Amino acid sequence: MTQPAAEAIERLVRDIPDFPQPGIVFKDITPLLADPDGFGAVVDGLAAAGRGPAGEVVVDKVVGMEARGFILAAPVALALGVGFVPVRKAGKLPGEIHSVSYELEYGEAVLELHRDGVAPGDRVLVVDDVLATGGTARATRELVERCGATVAAMTVLIELTFLPGRSAIGDLPFTALAQV
Ligand code: PRP
Repeated sequence: MTQPAAEAIERLVRDIPDFPQPGIVFKDITPLLADPDGFGAVVDGLAAAGRGPAGEVVVDKVVGMEARGFILAAPVALALGVGFVPVRKAGKLPGEIHSVSYELEYGEAVLELHRDGVAPGDRVLVVDDVLATGGTARATRELVERCGATVAAMTVLIELTFLPGRSAIGDLPFTALAQV
């Protein structure tokens, strides 16, 4: 964990009680995104998950999930000098896709990835803003693996440790810049 990133999250991510529904405390990252120093610090912190001990880049692609994951994963990909690949909600990608459905608290959601978005053998860094139940992250891992690629690491701004996200994603290198 990088200290400037953790400080930026502490200072600039605000809690919104009862959004989008009663009982949920929403982590609003928009003040963080609006602060160039804070935004830069968290991009550096997330990009570290794609580097080896000497700072070398050890991933071939960065995958981010719609929508807030896009905002973070794209600059991380640029920082590492590798391509960015979107995982999108159902019906948005125009090419041939892999599709995974997963359980929400009420109902079901579907995530999709272009079949040629990652190549067999690629080592992928998955980036998102929040790990909560882990449903989004687990579905993304499955999409990457269906392409024959590997999730080399997963990293998020904030892990909600009172939810079972970490166990849901399975055994892979995982880092969170902050935990609540
Ligand atoms: C949020 C968040 C993560 C996911 C985490 O996305 O950005 O992707 O939920 O929750 P989980 O671990 O329980 O799956 P959301 O689906 O609300 O979409 P958004 O980014 O478009 O707001």
